[in-house]
Amino acid sequence: MCGIVGVVGRESAAPRILEALRRLEYRGYDSAGIATLVNGYIDRRRAEGKLSNLAAVLEATPLPGTTGIGHTRWATHGAPTERNAHPHGTLRVSVVHNGIIENHAELRAELEAKGQAFETDTDTETFARLVDQNLAEGMAPEQAAAAALKRAHGAYALAMVFAGHPRTLICARQGAPLAVGYGEGEMFVGSDALALAPLTRRIAYLEEGDWAVVDDAGARFFDLQDRPVQREIRLTAVSGAATGKGNYRHFMEKELHEHPVVLGDTLTQYLDPMTRSVTLPPLPFDPAAVPRLTISACGSAFLAGLVGRYWIEQLARIPVDADVASEFRYREPPLPEGGAALLVSQSGETADTMAALRLLKERRQKVLAVVNVPESSMAREADGAVLTVAGPEIGVASTKAFTAQLAVLACLAIGFGRARGTISAEDEARLTATLLEVPGHAAMVLERDAEIRAMAAEVAKARDVLFLGRGTLFPIAMEGALKLKEISYIHAEGYAAGEMKHGPIALIDSAVPVISLCPSGPMFEKTASNLQEAAARGGRIMAFTDDLGAARLKAFAERVVVLPRVGDFSAPILHAIPVQLLAYHVAVLKGTDVDQPRNLAKSVTVE
Ligand code: F6R
Repeated sequence: MCGIVGVVGRESAAPRILEALRRLEYRGYDSAGIATLVNGYIDRRRAEGKLSNLAAVLEATPLPGTTGIGHTRWATHGAPTERNAHPHGTLRVSVVHNGIIENHAELRAELEAKGQAFETDTDTETFARLVDQNLAEGMAPEQAAAAALKRAHGAYALAMVFAGHPRTLICARQGAPLAVGYGEGEMFVGSDALALAPLTRRIAYLEEGDWAVVDDAGARFFDLQDRPVQREIRLTAVSGAATGKGNYRHFMEKELHEHPVVLGDTLTQYLDPMTRSVTLPPLPFDPAAVPRLTISACGSAFLAGLVGRYWIEQLARIPVDADVASEFRYREPPLPEGGAALLVSQSGETADTMAALRLLKERRQKVLAVVNVPESSMAREADGAVLTVAGPEIGVASTKAFTAQLAVLACLAIGFGRARGTISAEDEARLTATLLEVPGHAAMVLERDAEIRAMAAEVAKARDVLFLGRGTLFPIAMEGALKLKEISYIHAEGYAAGEMKHGPIALIDSAVPVISLCPSGPMFEKTASNLQEAAARGGRIMAFTDDLGAARLKAFAERVVVLPRVGDFSAPILHAIPVQLLAYHVAVLKGTDVDQPRNLAKSVTVE
């Protein structure tokens, strides 16, 4: 989603802003622009499409100046054209914005009546013209910005510069993240620490409702009521070095191959190999006393939550509700006194999940976030956080962060089970041992790469694809379908294998690959029967299974990829890897933009 960068620097700002915007490319965008202060005047360059287009514009007509703002735009209001690209503004002020100004139509009508002539369809221009109007009426930049912020409703992160104030930048946050970076005699603003990584690691985050004046003297922070507030400067763990592609063609490929390390790093946070037991960080609720647990998340993170529901209900016997966050808020679910909730998120910034967090807290539920970015809004606002140790995930489609979420949820399920006495110490030791083998098994799964690529060559020809699984592999079937849709643009559905005969079986013919997650174990016979039903109707069966399952499936399956025999508990973690890898290879064969698929954004900060 939109990325923001700002610099009050000592050297030419535009190249540094462009570089920082490159580090925000992963969030997804469709146009970009930069404005700087040149001899006290605002000048800007913008381009539709990729940052390379903006770079070409800057090369042809360089933009001098040491102070400026930049933006990658993911279109919400107005098509992704150069005209609608940020920065927006007037001769007096230039603004970049992430989010939506919800009352833009009303403000626009008011400003037009005052003589403001709009140039674009964007909600952002409304805010810029609101500030401009305040400046025209004699206010100084600080007053003008503060007054405009009080009129703007919605979710936003904003940064702005002012003509005649070449060393000042004002920024604000309401519902979308923003960080201020402290350099050596220079100051920066960015959507996240990654954007600022090579510039500085000293970061202060704006809190909800904050705005800040950033200049040569540092940063002055104010709350919603314009009261001065202090915001702690922290040393972020994010380093510029962690964000390269290495020898891989795509970030997604690199991140897929990081699975064993990420799973190892995450599991060793919570598992003790010597005692074969789980050690959880302090929790904001007592799992032994919790009457009910609510899980809420979006996209792949929600699918991880669905697997978590199976595990927690089976091992800890806590009734669990799981909802996509955008539905949870409006469903008005009754929540019990003393209830608890789990939120799952890679970025920790997803607007729908953040809205769920606030609703849960309003309803006095104790909220634990399973989150990858320790400095994120979710990690800070939840009552407690359990971290996935996946490192920065740049590919828009989640891969290693998803399996790391599963790893954490598995540890939580064991920990909750022990706390409630629903599993024994022997069970804990056995399940812990199973999880400790996961990183090694993940490496073995990655060795099947060539076979999965060969399967991808067949899948790439299809228009529709069905993924089938049962139990904890049902959400993984949905993950396979989601990933394929996202990056290869092939229509896919993830279904519970037993549910296929209640509808999707009508789709099956010789053009539809039916990809099943079907390891040996208690669910095997039933799933194999469902696959035979599909095969009998001409469906092309492709299966991920183990050696025992393969012996049976080979009789009617077109392709069988044999994975290590791992048992029920860790099967969803290990089956997520080949379905993600399959989607990756299909996307490469189809020549799509694997790391930044069309229309998608990494951190979805609008509802
Ligand atoms: C799918 C994907 C998305 C995210 C979703 C939630 O590959 O990446 O579906 O899982 O947007 O994002 P986070 O986890 O950052 O809350």
